[in-house]
Amino acid sequence: MDKRHWIDCPATLTHGNIIQRVIFTRQDPQARQEGGVLRFIESFARAYLEPGVSSVPHVNEGIQEVFFVASGSGQLVAGAQKHGLREGDGVIMPPGVEHTFVNEGQEPLELLILVEAVPKGAKVKGRKPLVRNFAQNNMGQGHWSHLVHKVFDRNDGLLQMHAVLIVRIEAMQPADTHGHGADMDEVWYMWKGQGIHVVSQEVCVQTPGTAVSVCPSNPGHSLINHTCQPLQVFYFARYPQ
Ligand SMILES: [Fe+2]
Repeated sequence: MDKRHWIDCPATLTHGNIIQRVIFTRQDPQARQEGGVLRFIESFARAYLEPGVSSVPHVNEGIQEVFFVASGSGQLVAGAQKHGLREGDGVIMPPGVEHTFVNEGQEPLELLILVEAVPKGAKVKGRKPLVRNFAQNNMGQGHWSHLVHKVFDRNDGLLQMHAVLIVRIEAMQPADTHGHGADMDEVWYMWKGQGIHVVSQEVCVQTPGTAVSVCPSNPGHSLINHTCQPLQVFYFARYPQ
């Protein structure tokens, strides 16, 4: 099981004032590095911006970023547009768009950040950021007890990933066990609450701020909510083609 809490990852300063801890990165076949578990997605990080602080305007080329507001509030300035941000908002930031985060609130703005490479010849959807709260999407159900809200999928413009989701499991509920091969990425980041994650032959209590990569999992993996409170997971995956 590849498991990492953000507090155990080195902190770096990025975009001027964003304090970032990269949890998982893409595997390097030449060098084994801690957290280097992703096969198709470049990186997954937890970051925050202090109250009263802005990031430095920034433009990405060759990559697309997906942000998720894990807590706090703020503003996203992208080109001539301004978007208010609140907890639960997702953002797809296409390449070539200058963007800045502004934290005008009283609490840190906590972000989860995914980076995906733009494949050769891929058509990027739109030249503006897409901002949407996960709660605006309809809830679905899977693996018996997963209550699933889409944040984004390929129709929204994801390029390498197929799904970014919020998965909720109610109190005292186990999920159906299912397995995955090594030809994909699937990561579960405990956003709220906690559970017991069984991956292959290993078991851990997955606490808030801990990410678990579940590929491969043979014979399977299952997240069990053993507590009296619901849990919510930030999930992202690239499925086999
Ligand atoms: Fe799974």
